[in-house]
Amino acid sequence: MESIQSIKQRFEIIGNDVKLNRAIEKAIQVAPTDISVLVTGESGVGKEALPKIIHSLSHRKHAKYIAVNCGAIPEGTIDSELFGHEKGAFTGATATRSGYFEVADGGTIFLDEVGELPLTTQVRLLRVLENGEFLKVGSSQVQKTDVRIVAATNINMFEAIKKEKFREDLYYRLSTVEINIPPLRERKEDIHLLFRKFASDFGQKYKMPTIRLDDDAVQLLLKYRWPGNIRQLRNIAEQVSVLEESRLITLATLNGYLPNSSNSNLPAVVGKEKKEGDFSTEREILYKVLFDMKGDLNDLKKLTLELLKHNDSEKVQEENENLIRKIYGDDEEDYTEQEESTNKILQLPEPYSEKPIVKTPPVDKYDFAEEIQEEETLSLQDKEIELIKKSLERNKGKRKAASAELGISERTLYRKIKQYDL
Ligand SMILES: Nc1ncnc2c1ncn2[C@@H]1O[C@H](COP(=O)(O)OP(=O)(O)OP(=O)(O)O)[C@@H](O)[C@H]1O
Ligand SMILES: [Mg+2]
Repeated sequence: MESIQSIKQRFEIIGNDVKLNRAIEKAIQVAPTDISVLVTGESGVGKEALPKIIHSLSHRKHAKYIAVNCGAIPEGTIDSELFGHEKGAFTGATATRSGYFEVADGGTIFLDEVGELPLTTQVRLLRVLENGEFLKVGSSQVQKTDVRIVAATNINMFEAIKKEKFREDLYYRLSTVEINIPPLRERKEDIHLLFRKFASDFGQKYKMPTIRLDDDAVQLLLKYRWPGNIRQLRNIAEQVSVLEESRLITLATLNGYLPNSSNSNLPAVVGKEKKEGDFSTEREILYKVLFDMKGDLNDLKKLTLELLKHNDSEKVQEENENLIRKIYGDDEEDYTEQEESTNKILQLPEPYSEKPIVKTPPVDKYDFAEEIQEEETLSLQDKEIELIKKSLERNKGKRKAASAELGISERTLYRKIKQYDL
C-alpha cells in the first residue's frame, strides 16, 4: 500500500495534521473496493484531491475518471448530461447522445457538489447506484453500467434531508464511507506551512523574492477563522506576493487583506500589551468603537421610529423600556460608570464622543434623532480624517503603504482623500 507521505507528494497535498492524514489514509484503504464514498468538509478545504486519489489507487485507474460539478449544470440538462438522451427526446436533441454514466463504464465518476442535484436526478442516481441500471432521457430501454461513485459536498446533508432537498436513502447509499476533511482553522500546524509553500510558489511564478511574515503576522494567520479555508489562504498569499513592495509582511499589512479580521477574528484588544503609538492597535480600538456605535445608532433609530409612529412619548418610553435602558443605562450614574470603564479598557486618549443623556425625549422628536446622528457621524469622520492624515504623513504620502496600514484598499483610500479633500 502506498504511504500517506508519497500520496501527499504525488497529489501535492501540504500538511501534517492528524485529521488530514486520517482522511488520506481512509481514501487509500477504501480505494481498491467499489464502495461509494462521500467526501465532506467546508468550502476550500481540499476535497477534490480525494476522489482522484481513490480512482488512481483502484483497479479502475486505467479506465475513465469523470468529474461532474452538479451545481454548475442547469437543472434542465443534468439528466441528459449524466445519463444521455435519445434523438428527439426534447427540442434540440437532434441525435442520440451518451451520458457520463455510459462513457465512464468501468471507471469512476466524481459527483462534486452532490447536494445540488435536483430530486428527479436523485431518483435516477439511486437506481444506478443500486443495480447499475439507467435509462437515457426519452428512452425506455434499460442500460447497464459499472461505475464507482465518489461524491463531495460542503453543505450539511442532514439539513438538506430535513428540508426535503435531498433523499435520505440516496444519502446513505452515497456515504457508505464518509471522509471528512477538517477546516483550516482546526489545522493550526498546517496554516503557516501552507502559507510558506504558496508564498514560495507565487514568488517563483511572479519572479519576485518570496514574502515572509513577521511574528505578529504569523500570530494573526493562526488566529484568523479562514472561512474560505485553503482556497482563501492561497488567494491571500498571491495577493500579498503581488501587491506588497516590502517582502517582510507585518501584522498591519496582513490584516488589510483579511476580511472581517477586525471583529471576531482578531486577538482581543483587552489585555493586549499596547506599544506606544502602535497604529494597528489604534485601528483595532476604532473598529471596536465603530461597531459599538453602529449598535447604538440602530437602537436609537428604532426608538425614533417608534416616537414618530406613535407621537406619545410616555407610551413609547413604557413600551421600549428595555431599549432605552440598553442605550442610556439604568440611570445616569450607571451610564457614567459604563463610559469610564469602556474608556479604560480601550485606553482611548480622550472620551471618544459625548453621548447626550436623554431620559425624556425632547418635544421636537425629529431634531432629537438628527442631532444624535449628526454628532456621531461628525466625530467619526474627524477620527477617520485624523487617522488617514497620520498614516499619509507616516508613509510620506505613499498611498499604497498608507492603505495597507489602514487596512483599506488603495481605491477606498483614494476616494476618502478626495472626499475629505486631504
Ligand atoms: N492540503 C493542500 N495542500 C495544497 N493545496 C491545497 C490543499 N488543500 C487544498 N488545496 C488547494 O486549495 C484549493 C481549494 O481546494 P479544493 O478545490 O479541493 O476545495 P473544495 O474542498 O473542493 O472546496 P469547494 O467545496 O468550495 O468545492 C485548490 O487550489 C487546492 O489545490
Ligand atoms: Mg470543490
